[in-house]
Amino acid sequence: MGEKDTVCVTGAGGFVASWVVKLLLSQGYKVHGTARDPGDEKNAHLKKLENASENLQLFKADLFDVEGLCNAISGCSGVFHVACPVPSDEVSNSDEREFIEPAVRGTRNVLDACIKAKVKRVVVVSSAGAVIYNPKWPKDKPMDEECWSDPVYCKKAKTQFGNYCLAKTMAETEALEYAKKSELRIITVCPSFVFGPMLQSTLNASNSLLITLLKDGLESVENRARPVVDVRDVAEALLLAYEEPEAEGRYICTSYVIKVQALVEMLKGLYPNYNYPKRIIGAVEDVKMSSEKLQKLGWKFRPLEETIVDAVNNYMKQVVSSANKD
Ligand SMILES: NC(=O)c1ccc[n+]([C@@H]2O[C@H](COP(=O)([O-])OP(=O)(O)OC[C@H]3O[C@@H](n4cnc5c(N)ncnc54)[C@H](OP(=O)(O)O)[C@@H]3O)[C@@H](O)[C@H]2O)c1
Repeated sequence: MGEKDTVCVTGAGGFVASWVVKLLLSQGYKVHGTARDPGDEKNAHLKKLENASENLQLFKADLFDVEGLCNAISGCSGVFHVACPVPSDEVSNSDEREFIEPAVRGTRNVLDACIKAKVKRVVVVSSAGAVIYNPKWPKDKPMDEECWSDPVYCKKAKTQFGNYCLAKTMAETEALEYAKKSELRIITVCPSFVFGPMLQSTLNASNSLLITLLKDGLESVENRARPVVDVRDVAEALLLAYEEPEAEGRYICTSYVIKVQALVEMLKGLYPNYNYPKRIIGAVEDVKMSSEKLQKLGWKFRPLEETIVDAVNNYMKQVVSSANKD
């Protein structure tokens, strides 16, 4: 394997970012990872990744800490900007600044640091949340890269998730505008709900949606349509966006749309003896979303059942191993 670039991954210890770091290290990249607290136990898994001892360096940096970001990005030819707070549930309310400040100001700070370090290419992780809240999009047409969430509609939701979608929409818009005004090559990738095995030891927000269905015995759950994608396929998509010279603009990264009812049926078939929701309620509104642009770039994704099985088995293994530690 030839000598590869040095690249930075922000929020390296998170669910998605850990898989990005793992993939980059496996491909021979030298990686600078940022974490708010590199010494925290929750980031310990990073040091155990293959090639980490020689090729991974962790830097302390909050998204508001310009100097910390500059230190981490200095010497890098590429950056994967992954760090961003993710809402813990979809319904409770929150102050919109909780998401907007780190998403928008954080992205700007990262991009400014990239300019300073003469970085060549940046891949910014956005979200299907920056796509999906668009009431004007024709119902029968799959949402594609032309589809943007409507900020007014996001705000109207008055939920953490609405605020998160607003923040991701603003941050992604900012990133693509920044690209027009600078020499930086910026690509944005919008993953849908990300499920899959965890490298980190704490359950992240999107996997918790899956695990809740399995074990919480909820009184009722809405039969929403969920666009989903495997975390390992997201990492591959981000690397593809970085490495492919013709990659440009925005990419939706989603594999399947599955309704909660069908997801519960699938889980019950695989793991019969768990505590499933008692009732599945609500009108079914379909979601159509397309990753054709990303697939044309060469992206492939694994079967949904593989994602679900690997996610659940990995979660169970972690529960058993943490119980054995107590
Ligand atoms: N999971 C999904 O379903 C999904 C779907 C679409 C898009 N995404 C996007 O994917 C990215 C990663 O999400 P994830 O699911 O991997 O979430 P995660 O496991 O919660 O990771 C989030 C990361 O962001 C970091 N972070 C949050 N606020 C920060 C701040 N102010 N300064 C520095 N770092 C900060 C966290 O660092 P600490 O450990 O220090 O808190 C953590 O490393 C996010 O951009 C998210 O919007 C996720």
